[in-house]
Amino acid sequence: MIILGIETSCDETAAAVVHGNGSSLKILSNIIASQQEVHQKYGGIVPELASRRHMEVILPVIQEALDQAKVTLAEIEAIAVTVMPGLVGSLLVGLQVAKGIAFAQGIPFVGVSHLEGHLQAALLEHPKVTYPYLALLVSGGHTLIYHVSLFSRYELIGGTRDDAAGEAFDKVAKILGLGYPGGPLIDKLARDGNPKAIKFPQGKISGHPFDFSFSGLKTAVLNYVRQSCRGEVTSPLLENICASFQETVVDDLVRKTVLAAEEKGVKTIVVSGGVACNSRLREKLPQAFFPSPLLCTDNAAMIAAVGYQYLKKGQTSPWSLNAVANQDAGNPSMNSGSA
Ligand code: KG4
Ligand code: ZN
Repeated sequence: MIILGIETSCDETAAAVVHGNGSSLKILSNIIASQQEVHQKYGGIVPELASRRHMEVILPVIQEALDQAKVTLAEIEAIAVTVMPGLVGSLLVGLQVAKGIAFAQGIPFVGVSHLEGHLQAALLEHPKVTYPYLALLVSGGHTLIYHVSLFSRYELIGGTRDDAAGEAFDKVAKILGLGYPGGPLIDKLARDGNPKAIKFPQGKISGHPFDFSFSGLKTAVLNYVRQSCRGEVTSPLLENICASFQETVVDDLVRKTVLAAEEKGVKTIVVSGGVACNSRLREKLPQAFFPSPLLCTDNAAMIAAVGYQYLKKGQTSPWSLNAVANQDAGNPSMNSGSA
């Protein structure tokens, strides 16, 4: 089955073509048009600008995905599209285009949860990942730990009480006067800093060993910057703050993930979401499976991969399907209706 995946939940316009055959999935193309330059000067995503940019580039991005996969639209057998969670105006662009193409071509479409996409991304590349596995999903919007016993069987074990890990990276980058998104910039600067230079506090929630809190850490960085420098933060303090902040986040993520895997008696650990690109996290969790960076950040191949699993079971979505901004993290799979 040849599937076109579409993802427009946030600030990346993405389309991918995957070929599913039994239990094997092959990525034929995976195109991502980033909107970073649109939002950079605002220090964060502006929802209205995001949906407008999606509208401008979605069709050329889909065409590029088809061209690179060397398939025509007529050869696409089904469409998988992100419907939740995300910016509703952005989600709607992808969903309407998916419905339009599916209707015109007379093929089925299936709505997919962005969370489930991230949770399944590692399976696209690592044949050794088998169920059950423990998944750490760390992105700009989420920091969640799941026990995944089977496809679409997820038990939520822990999550953040306030900021997501990627959000903390982005906010600290803003405090330090760096650009957006902050994660890659902090990661790069941290390589020249001392991770033990400054002791920042790790968030703890009593009675909930697998939950996270990053807002106190963010405030601690802000206070440290206010106390130790007037105006611009310069080298070598900048690199030391980046390295010490990053180390605090990474140590927290690694410790709780490993503890959760032990508690659940699960040997396989999978990490996904944008923060899974972090070089220090990859270094400190060598036993885990990480998707390649292009499959960690938002992409449509992971959406097509999940869609394929549903389509294989005969599940498709009705034309009435709508985009939803929020999703209960306790149920990251998308009940997309029956065929
Ligand atoms: O998964 P993603 O592309 O979008 C969401 O679903 O949120 O994740 C984006 C997040 C941003 O917060 C970005 O700063 C963070 O992932 N990120 C990183 C790195 N690369 C991206 N955080 C830390 N280190 C990185 N190398
Ligand atoms: Zn994401």
